[in-house]
Amino acid sequence: MDIDTTNTLELRNAMVDRLRESGIITDTRVENAMRRVPRHLFIPQAHFQRAYTGESVVTHRDEQGVATSSASEAGIVAVMLQQLDVQPGHRILEIGAGTGYNAALLAQMTGPSGVVTSIDIDAEVTREAREHLTAAGYDTVRVVCGDGDLGDVESAPFDRIIVTAGAWDLPHAWREQLAPGGVLVVPLRMRGLTRSLALQWEDGRWRSRSMHECGFMPIRGLGGVAERNVQLGGDSGVFIRTDEGREADPEALGAALKHPPTLRWTGAITRNAKHVDLWLSHLDGFCRMIATAPALERGLVRPIYPWGSMAVVTSNSFAYLLQRPSGADDLIELGVCAYGPDSNELAAAVAKRVTAWQHAQSSLSDLWVEVYPAGVANIPEGVLNIAKRNTHVVIRSGS
Ligand SMILES: C[S@@+](CC[C@H](N)C(=O)[O-])C[C@H]1O[C@@H](n2cnc3c(N)ncnc32)[C@H](O)[C@@H]1O
Repeated sequence: MDIDTTNTLELRNAMVDRLRESGIITDTRVENAMRRVPRHLFIPQAHFQRAYTGESVVTHRDEQGVATSSASEAGIVAVMLQQLDVQPGHRILEIGAGTGYNAALLAQMTGPSGVVTSIDIDAEVTREAREHLTAAGYDTVRVVCGDGDLGDVESAPFDRIIVTAGAWDLPHAWREQLAPGGVLVVPLRMRGLTRSLALQWEDGRWRSRSMHECGFMPIRGLGGVAERNVQLGGDSGVFIRTDEGREADPEALGAALKHPPTLRWTGAITRNAKHVDLWLSHLDGFCRMIATAPALERGLVRPIYPWGSMAVVTSNSFAYLLQRPSGADDLIELGVCAYGPDSNELAAAVAKRVTAWQHAQSSLSDLWVEVYPAGVANIPEGVLNIAKRNTHVVIRSGS
Protein backbone atom coordinates (compact mmCIF):
# COMPACT_ATOMS: atom_id res chain seq x y z
CA MET A 1 0.00 0.00 0.00
CA ASP A 2 1.64 3.31 -1.02
CA ILE A 3 1.44 6.45 1.07
CA ASP A 4 -1.38 8.01 -0.99
CA THR A 5 -3.55 4.92 -0.69
CA THR A 6 -2.99 4.87 3.07
CA ASN A 7 -3.84 8.56 3.26
CA THR A 8 -7.01 8.31 1.22
CA LEU A 9 -8.18 5.25 3.13
CA GLU A 10 -7.68 7.03 6.44
CA LEU A 11 -9.44 10.14 5.20
CA ARG A 12 -12.30 8.06 3.82
CA ASN A 13 -12.75 6.21 7.09
CA ALA A 14 -12.64 9.50 8.98
CA MET A 15 -15.38 10.91 6.70
CA VAL A 16 -17.56 7.85 7.30
CA ASP A 17 -16.85 7.97 11.05
CA ARG A 18 -18.08 11.58 11.14
CA LEU A 19 -21.26 10.67 9.25
CA ARG A 20 -21.84 7.76 11.61
CA GLU A 21 -21.18 9.79 14.78
CA SER A 22 -23.45 12.62 13.69
CA GLY A 23 -26.28 10.11 13.20
CA ILE A 24 -26.47 10.57 9.42
CA ILE A 25 -25.35 7.03 8.58
CA THR A 26 -27.56 4.57 10.41
CA ASP A 27 -27.32 1.55 8.09
CA THR A 28 -24.19 -0.64 8.12
CA ARG A 29 -24.69 -1.60 4.45
CA VAL A 30 -24.38 2.05 3.47
CA GLU A 31 -21.50 2.52 5.89
CA ASN A 32 -19.59 -0.47 4.45
CA ALA A 33 -20.11 0.70 0.87
CA MET A 34 -18.89 4.21 1.72
CA ARG A 35 -15.80 2.75 3.39
CA ARG A 36 -15.06 0.79 0.20
CA VAL A 37 -15.70 3.24 -2.67
CA PRO A 38 -12.82 5.71 -3.19
CA ARG A 39 -14.72 9.03 -3.52
CA HIS A 40 -11.57 10.90 -4.64
CA LEU A 41 -11.39 8.88 -7.88
CA PHE A 42 -14.78 10.34 -8.88
CA ILE A 43 -13.74 13.96 -8.33
CA PRO A 44 -10.29 14.13 -9.95
CA GLN A 45 -10.62 17.93 -10.27
CA ALA A 46 -10.65 18.30 -6.47
CA HIS A 47 -7.69 17.62 -4.16
CA PHE A 48 -8.18 14.21 -2.49
CA GLN A 49 -8.38 15.87 0.94
CA ARG A 50 -11.34 17.93 -0.26
CA ALA A 51 -13.04 14.80 -1.59
CA TYR A 52 -13.04 13.44 1.96
CA THR A 53 -14.48 16.50 3.64
CA GLY A 54 -17.69 15.07 2.18
CA GLU A 55 -18.79 18.45 0.82
CA SER A 56 -20.46 18.75 -2.56
CA VAL A 57 -18.14 19.64 -5.44
CA VAL A 58 -19.46 21.37 -8.56
CA THR A 59 -17.90 19.69 -11.61
CA HIS A 60 -19.70 21.37 -14.54
CA ARG A 61 -21.25 24.80 -15.19
CA ASP A 62 -23.14 26.27 -18.13
CA GLU A 63 -22.18 29.44 -20.05
CA GLN A 64 -23.85 31.61 -17.38
CA GLY A 65 -21.85 29.93 -14.63
CA VAL A 66 -24.84 28.01 -13.26
CA ALA A 67 -23.84 24.60 -11.85
CA THR A 68 -25.11 21.74 -14.04
CA SER A 69 -23.35 18.76 -12.45
CA SER A 70 -21.69 17.97 -9.15
CA ALA A 71 -20.70 15.31 -6.68
CA SER A 72 -23.49 15.56 -4.13
CA GLU A 73 -22.64 16.09 -0.48
CA ALA A 74 -21.69 12.73 1.11
CA GLY A 75 -24.29 13.13 3.88
CA ILE A 76 -27.27 13.38 1.53
CA VAL A 77 -25.86 10.53 -0.58
CA ALA A 78 -25.89 8.34 2.54
CA VAL A 79 -29.39 9.47 3.57
CA MET A 80 -30.86 8.74 0.13
CA LEU A 81 -29.20 5.30 -0.07
CA GLN A 82 -30.73 4.48 3.30
CA GLN A 83 -34.13 5.61 2.03
CA LEU A 84 -33.65 3.41 -1.05
CA ASP A 85 -33.11 0.24 1.03
CA VAL A 86 -30.79 -1.45 -1.47
CA GLN A 87 -30.54 -5.26 -1.32
CA PRO A 88 -28.00 -7.59 -2.97
CA GLY A 89 -29.19 -8.65 -6.42
CA HIS A 90 -31.39 -5.58 -6.99
CA ARG A 91 -31.87 -4.06 -10.43
CA ILE A 92 -31.40 -0.33 -9.97
CA LEU A 93 -31.84 2.76 -12.13
CA GLU A 94 -30.10 5.99 -11.19
CA ILE A 95 -31.11 9.24 -12.91
CA GLY A 96 -28.24 11.73 -12.76
CA ALA A 97 -24.98 9.77 -13.12
CA GLY A 98 -22.88 12.90 -12.40
CA THR A 99 -19.43 11.78 -11.28
CA GLY A 100 -20.48 8.10 -11.05
CA TYR A 101 -19.82 7.98 -7.28
CA ASN A 102 -23.37 7.09 -6.26
CA ALA A 103 -23.56 4.49 -9.05
CA ALA A 104 -20.41 2.86 -7.63
CA LEU A 105 -21.99 2.76 -4.16
CA LEU A 106 -25.10 1.17 -5.68
CA ALA A 107 -22.96 -1.43 -7.48
CA GLN A 108 -21.07 -2.14 -4.24
CA MET A 109 -24.36 -2.66 -2.37
CA THR A 110 -26.14 -4.78 -5.00
CA GLY A 111 -23.08 -7.02 -5.44
CA PRO A 112 -22.22 -9.21 -8.42
CA SER A 113 -25.81 -10.42 -8.91
CA GLY A 114 -27.20 -6.87 -9.09
CA VAL A 115 -27.62 -4.68 -12.16
CA VAL A 116 -27.03 -0.91 -12.00
CA THR A 117 -27.90 1.47 -14.84
CA SER A 118 -27.12 5.16 -14.49
CA ILE A 119 -28.35 7.85 -16.91
CA ASP A 120 -27.11 11.38 -17.43
CA ILE A 121 -28.47 13.95 -19.85
CA ASP A 122 -25.02 15.43 -20.51
CA ALA A 123 -22.76 13.50 -22.92
CA GLU A 124 -19.49 14.75 -21.40
CA VAL A 125 -20.66 13.99 -17.86
CA THR A 126 -21.72 10.50 -19.01
CA ARG A 127 -18.29 9.86 -20.54
CA GLU A 128 -16.52 11.03 -17.39
CA ALA A 129 -18.78 8.93 -15.12
CA ARG A 130 -17.89 5.86 -17.22
CA GLU A 131 -14.16 6.66 -16.92
CA HIS A 132 -14.35 7.15 -13.14
CA LEU A 133 -16.31 3.92 -12.66
CA THR A 134 -13.74 1.99 -14.69
CA ALA A 135 -10.84 3.56 -12.76
CA ALA A 136 -12.47 2.56 -9.46
CA GLY A 137 -13.23 -1.00 -10.63
CA TYR A 138 -17.00 -0.66 -11.12
CA ASP A 139 -17.16 -1.08 -14.89
CA THR A 140 -20.19 -3.38 -14.65
CA VAL A 141 -22.36 -0.27 -14.18
CA ARG A 142 -24.18 0.56 -17.42
CA VAL A 143 -23.87 4.32 -18.01
CA VAL A 144 -26.28 5.75 -20.56
CA CYS A 145 -26.59 9.24 -22.02
CA GLY A 146 -30.26 10.21 -22.20
CA ASP A 147 -33.15 12.00 -20.57
CA GLY A 148 -33.98 10.29 -17.28
CA ASP A 149 -37.62 11.38 -17.59
CA LEU A 150 -37.99 8.46 -19.99
CA GLY A 151 -36.30 6.00 -17.63
CA ASP A 152 -34.48 3.18 -19.39
CA VAL A 153 -36.76 0.77 -21.23
CA GLU A 154 -33.87 -1.53 -22.09
CA SER A 155 -33.04 -2.57 -18.51
CA ALA A 156 -36.51 -2.11 -16.91
CA PRO A 157 -38.18 -3.25 -14.70
CA PHE A 158 -36.26 -1.96 -11.67
CA ASP A 159 -36.51 -2.86 -7.99
CA ARG A 160 -35.28 0.61 -7.13
CA ILE A 161 -35.11 3.98 -8.91
CA ILE A 162 -33.08 6.84 -7.45
CA VAL A 163 -33.10 10.37 -8.85
CA THR A 164 -30.17 12.66 -7.97
CA ALA A 165 -31.39 15.92 -9.54
CA GLY A 166 -34.28 18.04 -8.23
CA ALA A 167 -37.43 16.73 -9.95
CA TRP A 168 -40.36 19.09 -10.34
CA ASP A 169 -42.79 16.30 -11.23
CA LEU A 170 -42.93 12.50 -11.51
CA PRO A 171 -43.03 11.28 -15.12
CA HIS A 172 -45.09 8.22 -16.10
CA ALA A 173 -42.00 6.18 -17.05
CA TRP A 174 -40.78 5.93 -13.46
CA ARG A 175 -44.00 4.26 -12.36
CA GLU A 176 -44.19 2.05 -15.44
CA GLN A 177 -40.59 0.87 -15.06
CA LEU A 178 -40.66 0.23 -11.29
CA ALA A 179 -41.41 -3.40 -10.33
CA PRO A 180 -44.37 -4.03 -7.97
CA GLY A 181 -43.30 -3.27 -4.38
CA GLY A 182 -40.34 -1.21 -5.69
CA VAL A 183 -39.09 2.04 -4.16
CA LEU A 184 -38.53 5.39 -5.89
CA VAL A 185 -36.28 7.87 -4.08
CA VAL A 186 -36.55 11.36 -5.51
CA PRO A 187 -35.73 14.92 -4.40
CA LEU A 188 -39.13 16.44 -5.21
CA ARG A 189 -39.44 20.22 -5.60
CA MET A 190 -42.59 21.64 -4.06
CA ARG A 191 -43.11 25.42 -4.22
CA GLY A 192 -39.33 25.82 -4.46
CA LEU A 193 -38.64 23.57 -1.44
CA THR A 194 -37.05 20.17 -1.90
CA ARG A 195 -37.59 16.99 0.08
CA SER A 196 -36.00 13.64 -0.67
CA LEU A 197 -38.95 11.24 -0.66
CA ALA A 198 -38.91 7.44 -0.60
CA LEU A 199 -42.12 6.62 -2.48
CA GLN A 200 -44.01 3.39 -3.06
CA TRP A 201 -46.91 2.96 -5.46
CA GLU A 202 -50.01 1.58 -3.79
CA ASP A 203 -53.79 1.95 -4.23
CA GLY A 204 -53.44 4.14 -7.29
CA ARG A 205 -51.02 6.72 -5.85
CA TRP A 206 -47.45 7.18 -4.57
CA ARG A 207 -47.15 7.24 -0.76
CA SER A 208 -43.98 8.42 0.99
CA ARG A 209 -42.24 6.18 3.52
CA SER A 210 -39.70 8.82 4.56
CA MET A 211 -38.78 12.42 3.78
CA HIS A 212 -35.64 14.47 4.32
CA GLU A 213 -34.80 18.10 3.70
CA CYS A 214 -32.29 18.55 0.90
CA GLY A 215 -31.26 20.78 -2.00
CA PHE A 216 -30.42 19.62 -5.53
CA MET A 217 -29.77 21.27 -8.86
CA PRO A 218 -32.96 21.18 -10.94
CA ILE A 219 -33.51 18.32 -13.36
CA ARG A 220 -33.17 19.43 -17.02
CA GLY A 221 -34.69 18.21 -20.25
CA LEU A 222 -38.26 16.95 -20.68
CA GLY A 223 -39.18 17.36 -17.00
CA GLY A 224 -37.28 20.60 -16.52
CA VAL A 225 -38.90 23.60 -14.83
CA ALA A 226 -36.17 26.16 -14.34
CA GLU A 227 -35.67 28.00 -11.08
CA ARG A 228 -35.31 31.75 -11.56
CA ASN A 229 -32.73 33.72 -9.59
CA VAL A 230 -33.56 37.42 -9.63
CA GLN A 231 -30.89 39.75 -8.21
CA LEU A 232 -32.51 42.68 -6.45
CA GLY A 233 -31.42 46.00 -7.90
CA GLY A 234 -29.03 44.29 -10.30
CA ASP A 235 -25.93 44.19 -8.05
CA SER A 236 -27.04 43.86 -4.40
CA GLY A 237 -25.90 40.24 -3.99
CA VAL A 238 -29.41 39.49 -2.68
CA PHE A 239 -31.38 37.10 -4.86
CA ILE A 240 -35.00 36.03 -4.89
CA ARG A 241 -35.29 32.43 -6.11
CA THR A 242 -38.67 31.56 -7.56
CA ASP A 243 -40.02 28.28 -8.89
CA GLU A 244 -43.18 27.26 -10.72
CA GLY A 245 -43.20 30.30 -13.00
CA ARG A 246 -43.54 32.93 -10.24
CA GLU A 247 -42.32 36.40 -11.14
CA ALA A 248 -40.28 38.92 -9.11
CA ASP A 249 -39.48 42.47 -10.25
CA PRO A 250 -35.72 43.10 -9.66
CA GLU A 251 -36.00 46.91 -9.96
CA ALA A 252 -38.95 47.44 -7.62
CA LEU A 253 -37.59 44.97 -5.06
CA GLY A 254 -34.09 46.45 -5.34
CA ALA A 255 -35.60 49.89 -4.59
CA ALA A 256 -37.39 48.36 -1.57
CA LEU A 257 -34.04 47.20 -0.19
CA LYS A 258 -32.83 50.83 0.00
CA HIS A 259 -35.43 51.75 2.66
CA PRO A 260 -35.25 50.92 6.37
CA PRO A 261 -36.83 47.53 7.09
CA THR A 262 -39.82 46.70 9.27
CA LEU A 263 -38.80 44.16 11.90
CA ARG A 264 -41.36 42.02 13.66
CA TRP A 265 -40.57 39.34 16.24
CA THR A 266 -43.24 36.67 16.37
CA GLY A 267 -42.94 35.19 19.86
CA ALA A 268 -42.60 31.78 18.16
CA ILE A 269 -39.81 30.21 20.22
CA THR A 270 -38.42 26.89 19.10
CA ARG A 271 -35.32 24.73 18.95
CA ASN A 272 -36.05 23.49 15.49
CA ALA A 273 -37.96 25.42 12.83
CA LYS A 274 -38.85 22.14 11.10
CA HIS A 275 -41.26 22.43 8.18
CA VAL A 276 -41.85 26.15 8.78
CA ASP A 277 -40.88 26.54 5.10
CA LEU A 278 -43.61 24.16 3.90
CA TRP A 279 -46.08 25.89 6.18
CA LEU A 280 -45.20 29.34 4.83
CA SER A 281 -45.31 28.15 1.25
CA HIS A 282 -49.11 28.58 1.45
CA LEU A 283 -48.61 32.34 1.27
CA ASP A 284 -49.00 34.07 -2.10
CA GLY A 285 -45.62 35.10 -3.48
CA PHE A 286 -43.72 32.48 -1.44
CA CYS A 287 -40.08 32.14 -2.58
CA ARG A 288 -36.59 31.92 -1.17
CA MET A 289 -34.06 34.68 -0.55
CA ILE A 290 -30.41 33.83 -1.15
CA ALA A 291 -27.61 36.23 -0.21
CA THR A 292 -23.99 36.19 -1.38
CA ALA A 293 -21.19 36.30 1.19
CA PRO A 294 -20.43 40.02 0.52
CA ALA A 295 -24.12 40.92 0.98
CA LEU A 296 -24.11 39.07 4.31
CA GLU A 297 -20.87 40.74 5.38
CA ARG A 298 -22.33 44.17 4.61
CA GLY A 299 -25.25 43.27 6.87
CA LEU A 300 -27.68 43.96 4.05
CA VAL A 301 -29.86 41.01 5.07
CA ARG A 302 -29.65 38.44 7.89
CA PRO A 303 -31.29 35.25 6.61
CA ILE A 304 -32.29 32.43 8.95
CA TYR A 305 -29.82 30.00 7.35
CA PRO A 306 -26.42 30.91 5.87
CA TRP A 307 -27.69 29.73 2.47
CA GLY A 308 -30.95 31.63 2.57
CA SER A 309 -34.37 32.19 4.02
CA MET A 310 -38.00 31.59 3.29
CA ALA A 311 -39.35 34.79 1.80
CA VAL A 312 -42.52 36.30 0.35
CA VAL A 313 -42.69 38.89 -2.43
CA THR A 314 -45.35 41.27 -3.71
CA SER A 315 -44.89 43.52 -6.75
CA ASN A 316 -42.81 46.06 -4.77
CA SER A 317 -42.06 44.60 -1.31
CA PHE A 318 -40.56 41.50 0.20
CA ALA A 319 -40.25 39.87 3.61
CA TYR A 320 -38.01 37.10 4.87
CA LEU A 321 -37.60 35.01 8.01
CA LEU A 322 -34.86 35.62 10.49
CA GLN A 323 -34.08 34.36 13.97
CA ARG A 324 -32.48 35.50 17.24
CA PRO A 325 -31.33 33.53 20.28
CA SER A 326 -33.99 33.25 22.96
CA GLY A 327 -32.61 32.47 26.39
CA ALA A 328 -30.60 29.35 27.08
CA ASP A 329 -30.70 25.88 25.57
CA ASP A 330 -30.26 26.75 21.88
CA LEU A 331 -33.78 28.16 21.70
CA ILE A 332 -34.48 30.69 18.95
CA GLU A 333 -37.26 33.16 18.26
CA LEU A 334 -38.47 33.51 14.69
CA GLY A 335 -38.94 36.96 13.27
CA VAL A 336 -39.82 38.69 10.02
CA CYS A 337 -37.91 41.42 8.25
CA ALA A 338 -39.78 43.27 5.50
CA TYR A 339 -38.82 45.96 2.96
CA GLY A 340 -40.84 48.20 0.66
CA PRO A 341 -44.13 50.15 0.66
CA ASP A 342 -46.13 47.09 1.80
CA SER A 343 -43.61 46.10 4.48
CA ASN A 344 -45.96 46.58 7.48
CA GLU A 345 -48.80 44.49 6.02
CA LEU A 346 -46.42 41.88 4.66
CA ALA A 347 -44.52 41.50 7.95
CA ALA A 348 -47.84 41.15 9.79
CA ALA A 349 -49.14 38.49 7.36
CA VAL A 350 -45.95 36.42 7.53
CA ALA A 351 -45.74 36.76 11.34
CA LYS A 352 -49.37 35.57 11.64
CA ARG A 353 -48.56 32.50 9.57
CA VAL A 354 -45.45 31.78 11.69
CA THR A 355 -47.58 31.92 14.84
CA ALA A 356 -50.05 29.51 13.25
CA TRP A 357 -47.10 27.21 12.44
CA GLN A 358 -46.13 27.18 16.10
CA HIS A 359 -49.61 26.03 17.08
CA ALA A 360 -49.64 23.36 14.38
CA GLN A 361 -46.08 22.19 15.10
CA SER A 362 -46.91 18.96 16.91
CA SER A 363 -49.06 17.69 14.02
CA LEU A 364 -46.32 18.63 11.54
CA SER A 365 -43.80 16.27 13.12
CA ASP A 366 -45.57 13.46 11.29
CA LEU A 367 -45.82 14.62 7.68
CA TRP A 368 -46.09 12.39 4.66
CA VAL A 369 -46.63 12.96 0.97
CA GLU A 370 -49.06 11.38 -1.46
CA VAL A 371 -48.72 11.89 -5.20
CA TYR A 372 -51.80 11.24 -7.34
CA PRO A 373 -51.98 11.03 -11.13
CA ALA A 374 -53.27 14.40 -12.39
CA GLY A 375 -57.00 14.50 -12.96
CA VAL A 376 -58.10 11.61 -10.70
CA ALA A 377 -61.22 12.16 -8.62
CA ASN A 378 -61.38 12.58 -4.82
CA ILE A 379 -57.89 13.87 -4.10
CA PRO A 380 -57.80 14.60 -0.35
CA GLU A 381 -57.13 18.08 1.06
CA GLY A 382 -53.76 18.18 2.85
CA VAL A 383 -51.55 20.68 4.66
CA LEU A 384 -50.53 21.65 1.14
CA ASN A 385 -51.96 20.62 -2.26
CA ILE A 386 -49.86 21.32 -5.35
CA ALA A 387 -50.99 20.65 -8.90
CA LYS A 388 -48.19 19.59 -11.26
CA ARG A 389 -48.27 18.60 -14.96
CA ASN A 390 -48.51 14.82 -14.52
CA THR A 391 -49.44 14.62 -10.88
CA HIS A 392 -51.08 16.27 -7.90
CA VAL A 393 -48.94 16.38 -4.74
CA VAL A 394 -50.61 16.32 -1.31
CA ILE A 395 -48.65 16.91 1.88
CA ARG A 396 -50.54 15.28 4.71
CA SER A 397 -50.11 15.38 8.45
CA GLY A 398 -50.75 12.86 11.19
CA SER A 399 -53.57 14.75 12.83
C1 LIG B 1 -26.10 16.36 -8.51
S1 LIG B 1 -25.63 15.66 -10.03
C2 LIG B 1 -25.68 13.94 -9.68
C3 LIG B 1 -24.63 13.43 -8.74
C4 LIG B 1 -24.29 11.98 -8.99
N1 LIG B 1 -25.36 11.08 -8.62
C5 LIG B 1 -22.97 11.61 -8.35
O1 LIG B 1 -22.91 10.59 -7.63
O2 LIG B 1 -21.99 12.30 -8.60
C6 LIG B 1 -27.08 15.83 -11.04
C7 LIG B 1 -26.91 15.25 -12.41
O3 LIG B 1 -28.18 15.11 -13.00
C8 LIG B 1 -28.01 15.26 -14.39
N2 LIG B 1 -29.33 15.50 -15.01
C9 LIG B 1 -30.08 16.63 -14.99
N3 LIG B 1 -31.23 16.43 -15.65
C10 LIG B 1 -31.22 15.15 -16.08
C11 LIG B 1 -32.13 14.35 -16.82
N4 LIG B 1 -33.31 14.81 -17.26
N5 LIG B 1 -31.78 13.06 -17.09
C12 LIG B 1 -30.60 12.56 -16.66
N6 LIG B 1 -29.69 13.29 -15.97
C13 LIG B 1 -30.01 14.55 -15.68
C14 LIG B 1 -27.03 16.41 -14.51
O4 LIG B 1 -26.39 16.43 -15.77
C15 LIG B 1 -26.08 16.10 -13.34
O5 LIG B 1 -24.96 15.39 -13.79
